[in-house]
Amino acid sequence: MNVTLKIKRFNPEKDAKPWWGEYEVDVHPNDQLLDALHAVKWHQDGTLTLRRSCAHGICGSDAMVVNGRNRLACKVLMKDLGKKVQVEPIRGLPVLKDLVVDMEPFFASYRAIKPYFINNDPPPASRERYQSVEDRERFDDTTKCILCACCTTSCPSFWANGNYVGPAAIVQAHRFVFDSRDHGGPERLEVLNDAMGVWRCRTVFNCVECCPREINITRAIGDVKKAILEGGV
Ligand code: SF4
Ligand code: SF4
Ligand code: FES
Repeated sequence: MNVTLKIKRFNPEKDAKPWWGEYEVDVHPNDQLLDALHAVKWHQDGTLTLRRSCAHGICGSDAMVVNGRNRLACKVLMKDLGKKVQVEPIRGLPVLKDLVVDMEPFFASYRAIKPYFINNDPPPASRERYQSVEDRERFDDTTKCILCACCTTSCPSFWANGNYVGPAAIVQAHRFVFDSRDHGGPERLEVLNDAMGVWRCRTVFNCVECCPREINITRAIGDVKKAILEGGV
């Protein structure tokens, strides 16, 4: 089927402002949008710039705004997009070129919540640190995050203030705060209780609607808010 891709282009070395490029591509209905973007890059305009790696919804590198909604280009099929497809870079982060944004502010927030296991006690002799099924269940949902930034860059609070840590960092914090084996919860909750932390969330739900992993982000944010108010998990 023939589809027109309207792609927001911007090369800071050449362009004074962004412009729209239109490209006709012949695609199979079951092709991914990523395949269609490759068809443009490989056969029409090699300067089109985008990030991707796994092409299977795992690496989280090809988030973009597709027909107004944050999606992973490799997780959306052409048959579900119609004959005209509009593609833009994700919002709220500086555009480096075309569909590639500077992810550093996003990863700075990720690093701020200490996304690693903290427990200075020596592990039990000759076995792992055990955890009950119920305790593991508490943070199961938030282990699924692939750091694609679809949520944070769809969040009106983040657009209004880029210093807000954003839903992705809160989801990542949740994964450790609610892990019974981890002792870093108080440090992380202190970071999230900051003026740029969880209280900037206005529960607009944009983030939940666009998460490609279907994580219940607002529930995770609610859990973290409750933990802060109750002084722990
Ligand atoms: S629910 Fe909170 S974090 Fe999610 S988009 Fe809305 S304001 Fe942003
Ligand atoms: S919570 Fe979902 S949308 Fe947000 S970064 Fe993780 S996988 Fe992406
Ligand atoms: S290319 Fe890895 S998630 Fe799409």
